Amino acid sequence: MTNTQALKEKAAHYAVQQLVSGMVVGLGTGSTAECAIRLLAQQIRQGILTDIVGIPSSAAAAHLAHKEGIPLGTLTEYPEIDVTIDGLDEVDPQLNLIKGLGGALLREKIVATFSRRVIVIGEANKRVDRLGTRSPLPVEVIPMALWPITLYLQDLGITVVQRLAQDQKTPFVTDEGNNILDCYFANGIVDPYALELALRSRPGIVENGLFLGIASDVMLASELGVEHLRR
Ligand code: A5P
Repeated sequence: MTNTQALKEKAAHYAVQQLVSGMVVGLGTGSTAECAIRLLAQQIRQGILTDIVGIPSSAAAAHLAHKEGIPLGTLTEYPEIDVTIDGLDEVDPQLNLIKGLGGALLREKIVATFSRRVIVIGEANKRVDRLGTRSPLPVEVIPMALWPITLYLQDLGITVVQRLAQDQKTPFVTDEGNNILDCYFANGIVDPYALELALRSRPGIVENGLFLGIASDVMLASELGVEHLRR
């Protein structure tokens, strides 16, 4: 196991310990959230956790959870989620996040927003002083608006790169059939709240990877252990 994988599992293990029987659990997307899904499934199989319902944040999370035997539900059946466990790409000192390098930002944000508690987990090197310095900010866009939105983002001083699929030729397509523009900032994101407002002001932008004021707990794993930051 690589060192990075060991850290992801360490953080996932710490997070899954927060769950109790009977909970509705939001299932995140990405390699770290996958560790949490597998651990949760293990605990269900061992009878340590019972009456758990998972609400997946992507087709990939639904597929894995189903394969691992986690009972799944929908937001129509369970409009309030007790706890969501998801990964992150960056966290700043205010516990604001960038998420969505896996492309699932829209459903991830829906699941997180309707959760009483949102636990995000990852390696300690995802901590930054300012968002947008380590990772691009993904922006999900309706295909017909890609070009005008690209121009709009460039006018804001952002370097815009359309995300490609694994073949590196065709555009990446999200679970909702949209595309992703990855946004790069020369000096990071100076005011994430102002940027979020600017992004919300343009129809065609469906969602963006800024998760502001959403995380309740951030669990960052390093060689020294897991640091648990609370809002
Ligand atoms: C998925 O869209 C993302 O938000 C992931 O949660 C995030 O990119 C972290 O992924 P890893 O756990 O694979 O680093």
